[in-house]
Amino acid sequence: MSLLRSKENILSHGCLVHEVIDLGRWLVASAWPYINYVPHLGTMIGSILSADVFARFLRMLGEEVLFVSGSDEHGTPIEVEAIKRGIDPKKFTDENHKKVKELFAKWNISFDNYTRTENPIHKEFVRKFYMKLYERGYIFSKEIEMPYCPRCKMFLPDRFIEGTCPYCGYPKARGDQCDRCGRLLEPTLLINPRCSICGSKPEIKKTLHWFFDLPKLADKVKEYIENNKNLPDNARNMSLSMIREGLKPRSLTRDNKWGIPAPFPGAEDKTIYVWMEAVLGYVSATIEYFVKRGDPDGWKKYWFDPEVKSVFFIGKDNIPFHTIIFPALLLASGDNYVLPWRVESTEYLMFEGEKFSKSRRIGIWIDEALEILPSDYWRFALVYIRPETRDSNFTWDLFIDIINSILNDTIGNFIHRTLSLTYRYFKEVPPRYKLNNVDEEVLNDVKRLYEEITKMFKSFKFKEALFRIVDIARVGNKYLNDTQPWDLIKTNRERAATVLNIALSLVKALAILLAPIIPEHADRLWHMLGYNDSVHNHKWQEALTGIKAGQKIERPKPLFTKVSKEQITKLTSRPITSNVISIEEFSRLDLRVGKVLKASKVPNSDKLLELMIDVGGEVKRAIAGIGEVYEPKELIGKKVVVLCNIKPKKIRGITSEVMILAACNEKGPILIVPERDVKEGTRIS
Ligand code: MF3
Ligand code: ZN
Repeated sequence: MSLLRSKENILSHGCLVHEVIDLGRWLVASAWPYINYVPHLGTMIGSILSADVFARFLRMLGEEVLFVSGSDEHGTPIEVEAIKRGIDPKKFTDENHKKVKELFAKWNISFDNYTRTENPIHKEFVRKFYMKLYERGYIFSKEIEMPYCPRCKMFLPDRFIEGTCPYCGYPKARGDQCDRCGRLLEPTLLINPRCSICGSKPEIKKTLHWFFDLPKLADKVKEYIENNKNLPDNARNMSLSMIREGLKPRSLTRDNKWGIPAPFPGAEDKTIYVWMEAVLGYVSATIEYFVKRGDPDGWKKYWFDPEVKSVFFIGKDNIPFHTIIFPALLLASGDNYVLPWRVESTEYLMFEGEKFSKSRRIGIWIDEALEILPSDYWRFALVYIRPETRDSNFTWDLFIDIINSILNDTIGNFIHRTLSLTYRYFKEVPPRYKLNNVDEEVLNDVKRLYEEITKMFKSFKFKEALFRIVDIARVGNKYLNDTQPWDLIKTNRERAATVLNIALSLVKALAILLAPIIPEHADRLWHMLGYNDSVHNHKWQEALTGIKAGQKIERPKPLFTKVSKEQITKLTSRPITSNVISIEEFSRLDLRVGKVLKASKVPNSDKLLELMIDVGGEVKRAIAGIGEVYEPKELIGKKVVVLCNIKPKKIRGITSEVMILAACNEKGPILIVPERDVKEGTRIS
């Protein structure tokens, strides 16, 4: 129940005594993305977009919501990347933070505060927080044996070391966590360790570090996990098995320069391990939000009120940091912080069957996605394939199918039919007359779907919710087919009015229920229905209240457009399918130097030239789209690069047997030529 509704309760009952007031106050948080690159679609649906959908849903229910996140700026990968580029890490993250923040705005992520870990409020909070833990006896220092790379001349924490996981045997586990089983690790636990930069076998050296005494909190953390009914299975199981195996002290300091300086006496030249400070960002981002509003104590109602529900949207690799480390830190402070109410940990989104990989360029990143289609299309498709109970797979074919057959042919089509018929016959919302069984049935179906959708959203099954929203459009399309208002209008105008009124009510329901998922198009639809405010200021419950007769509607235009693979290929600057091929696959290309013997224009085309090319003892024909840039006569005698084993294709009735290679930019094709003279027929490899 929301604060608002509780107040109404108080008013109508006159007094507050013994009423249990459900505050309906939510802290919605999404994992803080590392800022060494822009996030990809997997990060988006795993944390940021899912959190946004939920925050928007709660706001429409009338709940009190604060939605925070920020850029995770510290840590070794970012420092190394900045060093490689020869720039200061701060300058590097300044730029990336700005860029990513702007991108999130284009994706319509409705953060109340998107901040960063370089924020002074965060740094100060972290240092104070750890001093408190130090004073309370939860931090100790210890000389430890640390792997050290003699070649790179550095200690090897975290991602700098790889080895076999002692728990699951994964051979490429990192120093801080195993990517396969998700267990937390320490560099010294790795079997068969090696430096991940140069591959050397590390030496062991002694060094002094500070530790968080996690075992001291093991019982409390266990109790928290066992009593928390809101953890999804993946988070609960992993956390409990980690506790069963025994929690170990967690190292807290690093020798890196880039990071938050450790506050402990004697640790002046160390920084705090990135994970151990980033999780505290959830608190500091709340503080910052309220400080900026001139209410420096306001944050406390989100962190100390036991009625607050905090929900953390994360990918499953982040589970232990949110179910064990973060609660343990909060408990160690002794300050009665509320512990995470739900850690909403999704499975992985795969890309064409593979893991997203920056180095192998597998996946789509959120900036290039927007070059292809506006964010709502991505939002819709990502929620539609959200990896809720198992990993899911993004493929271009699936994406195109979701956009074309679900978004366009099912939802868009129902909306457009309804609005066009209404506009043609009435220009405004017609009144509803007597209802018959068919009408009642449709309204009941929608009511049932609405209840299910609401329940699904409340239980974090956004994908299931979306399937049912699509069902409303299906019900609507069937209703139009069954009642045929285009015939009714000739014989029974009142009946046609009633049918269209009901169909328009369904369209209104769609605008409201889709608002958390496709905020821009839902609002556009809202205006098409003749409203002049924003759908986002309306209540979820209005999905069922029907639409007022007499409201003028706009001349309808289709709300969505379809896509094809060809279009997508044109819109993006790189190949859209996984572009990783093996050497064997590459060597199947028969690339040769060719000499152009003849060149002429293809009749009735400015673009196409017909070329006869000697590819070494045989002459092949190419139909090439280079006529706007090259004159036939300048080509004769030129050496070019020819792909000889491509399937012949008929172009304008002429068979093109080979293909010539050109670089293409906005000005057109530029032929690739050998930079020294070489005999035609020479193999290119
Ligand atoms: N940067 C981490 C990742 O991308 C997530 C950090 S969540 C935080 O895996 F809240 F702890 F910052
Ligand atoms: Zn493992």
